Amino acid sequence: MSANGPRVLVVPQVGWAAAVAAELAARLVERPSLRVCLPTGGTPTPVYAALAKAVRAGRCSLAAATVVLLDEWVGLAPGDPARCDVRLQGELLDHLETPPAFVRIGVDAADLAAAVARHDAAAAGLDLAVVGLGMNGHIGFNEPGSSPSGATRVVALQPVTITAATAQYGARSAPSGGVTVGFARLLAAQEVWLLVTGERKAAVLRQALEGPEDAACPASLLRRHPRLTVFADEAAAAQLRGI
Ligand code: F6R
Repeated sequence: MSANGPRVLVVPQVGWAAAVAAELAARLVERPSLRVCLPTGGTPTPVYAALAKAVRAGRCSLAAATVVLLDEWVGLAPGDPARCDVRLQGELLDHLETPPAFVRIGVDAADLAAAVARHDAAAAGLDLAVVGLGMNGHIGFNEPGSSPSGATRVVALQPVTITAATAQYGARSAPSGGVTVGFARLLAAQEVWLLVTGERKAAVLRQALEGPEDAACPASLLRRHPRLTVFADEAAAAQLRGI
């Protein structure tokens, strides 16, 4: 854990997405060429809507930024609604008049290993890594057992993660695996933001922030980062004791 520990911001659910989007907008104003890694999933969806609104209102722009996708399913056809590239495009990029450079993960390439190596290079030197929290503590698709020095790589997914693809995100088939930016790149980013909402995440958030720093809960490894900010809504923060 860093000397001061993570900055934990607890915001009522109703203002949570706007608060995160406002901080993102502020970063973009400070550094228009922001190199940012973004997740998909249910948690960031309202943040992207609020951010697109801020862009339309002229409060910030992503035109000079670079968005690096955090992770992607393997085995879902291009265009599948659960694909991370499809979701980020539909929830954010399509709503911007001048979208940022968008670095997808080349999971459809004939040479997957080369595509993964290219993505690892793209994830070097991030200004900001934004991540969500899986019910099993995963970060991106860094599942339990992941190394803090792990590279961007192809991973086997836990059954709970595969089930989320179909049950939560509407995948047309079950993914066979995933590709994720590894902890080596995430922990080397200038700043890391962990986004967490909802009562169902309260126990795992507590484990991540107040349990042992251990690969069994990959999110706990983020505490090694000196500039970790946790944006939690009140329901997700309900079991935290140290705030
Ligand atoms: C998705 C990703 C995942 C999710 C996590 C939480 O790009 O990286 O790690 O952030 O599974 O998903 P939601 O937000 O749907 O609860």
